[in-house]
Amino acid sequence: MSEWWKSAVIYQVYPRSFQDSNGDGIGDLKGIERRLDDLQALGIDAIWISPIFPSPMADFGYDVADYRDVDPRFGTLDDFDALLAAAHERGIRVLLDLVPNHSSSAHPWFEESRASRDNPKRDWYIWRDPGPGGAPPNNWISDFGGPAWEWDAATGQYYYHAFLKEQPDLNWRNPAVRAAMMEVLRFWFARGIDGFRIDVLWHMVKHADLPDNPVNAAWRPGEPDYTRVHQLHSADQPEVHDIAAEMRAIADEYGARVLIGEIYLPVPRLMGYYGTAERPGVHLPFNFQLIGAEWNARGLAAIIDAYEGALPAGGWPNWVLGNHDRPRIATRVGPAQARVAMMLLLTLRGTPTLYYGDEIGMEDVAIPPDLIRDPRELNDPGIGLGRDPVRTPMAWDDSPNAGFSAAAPWLPLHPDWRVRNVAAQRSDPASMWRLTRKLLALRHAHPALALGDYRPVEAKGDLLAWERRLGHDRLLVVLNLGDRPQGFAIPEWAEGFAVLAAARGGTDPALLSPNEGYVLG
Ligand code: NOJ
Repeated sequence: MSEWWKSAVIYQVYPRSFQDSNGDGIGDLKGIERRLDDLQALGIDAIWISPIFPSPMADFGYDVADYRDVDPRFGTLDDFDALLAAAHERGIRVLLDLVPNHSSSAHPWFEESRASRDNPKRDWYIWRDPGPGGAPPNNWISDFGGPAWEWDAATGQYYYHAFLKEQPDLNWRNPAVRAAMMEVLRFWFARGIDGFRIDVLWHMVKHADLPDNPVNAAWRPGEPDYTRVHQLHSADQPEVHDIAAEMRAIADEYGARVLIGEIYLPVPRLMGYYGTAERPGVHLPFNFQLIGAEWNARGLAAIIDAYEGALPAGGWPNWVLGNHDRPRIATRVGPAQARVAMMLLLTLRGTPTLYYGDEIGMEDVAIPPDLIRDPRELNDPGIGLGRDPVRTPMAWDDSPNAGFSAAAPWLPLHPDWRVRNVAAQRSDPASMWRLTRKLLALRHAHPALALGDYRPVEAKGDLLAWERRLGHDRLLVVLNLGDRPQGFAIPEWAEGFAVLAAARGGTDPALLSPNEGYVLG
């Protein structure tokens, strides 16, 4: 089916932390291949693997030194081909993570670019003369803290980096850069991958004149450094949509591929990334609304309604609860409510993306100061921006290092891994893993869940309910978002419905226990 991604559930694998196969404490491609059977047992349809390309790992792979190869820490191109074939044999699609906004400063393109002002690749990156008194060319701030400009004494100019100085931004206004990156898409599509998640898509084009960003007068100490200015000119420029359209045209040439854009923008701006009927953009601009959501029925209903209401004609929704950059859901809403959140994610209308480990309720892991690895935390410390806590190794069983590695893992495991692991939860009918599997099975069995309409039913206090319907297939979802019991008046059309799934094993949807949720049908 060419639009397979509409009914699919995508599972994000952070490769460093999924499964190590060679005993270096870092996950790798052979490890992922070994775990495909576990993923198949869970019932996911596709995996998105965070970057696996050669990299100095200044930002753990989001600093790419070669877009067409595999980092030796993760394996080889042959290992990738083997993983892809093994996934496809099991009906699991594979998405890679394209990082086109910036390369590593160790990429040969940048090494050439910085070699001299008249190097043919000079204009592949964003170089500018200093401002008055040698100051940076404008007031732009790196998303990871500090100025976004790095001085290059050898050539007497600054270069721009939206993230680390080891991640110089490519100049997407240069047609040669565009052409080179489009070849990267072709390279991987031709190898057989099913799609890309596109890193920071909204950052890719900057205002041609690089004017100062407006200062954020409301900024207060303790808030992230980059929010000192509004990113008016440094991101989300109209020309970015041409790039998305060009990438989409390439994906369409190969057929049945999907492009997912990483975009943190308010909903109205986000919608532009779907493109138009004449000039489509990415299939799925990531919808991160649930990540920052206030956890109450009215708040969630407002988010769902606003998002559904803003979708352009033909735009297919998608939902995300967590990723490798944001606090885990079980930490945000608590372990009991995490089950309800999983039910929400897997029963809303649209493609869900599930972050590895959330299916066993992994929480953020406190990282002792001497073990901090994330440059974001090291650059802008002490205000909770570090992402190590959400990137800790997957716990597979209660053998040494949780079955993740024969060696000490690169980040510590969560403290309760001996009981909170996949093997233990697979054999426990009341576990979060079993609930996730059940919900995934329901999505496969019920067209209404996978593709049906969404209709709000109730949003009051902690009670949130909605209908999913496709033809005769009709389901009701009701969630208790709090820790007090909730009575629920089951609508007439759903009277006599059976409990298809219960977040905490309950049997009475007319009286929901704390943190309970039901799918009825
Ligand atoms: C977004 C990625 O998700 C994040 O992990 C990374 O650090 C930045 N982009 C820079 O590539």
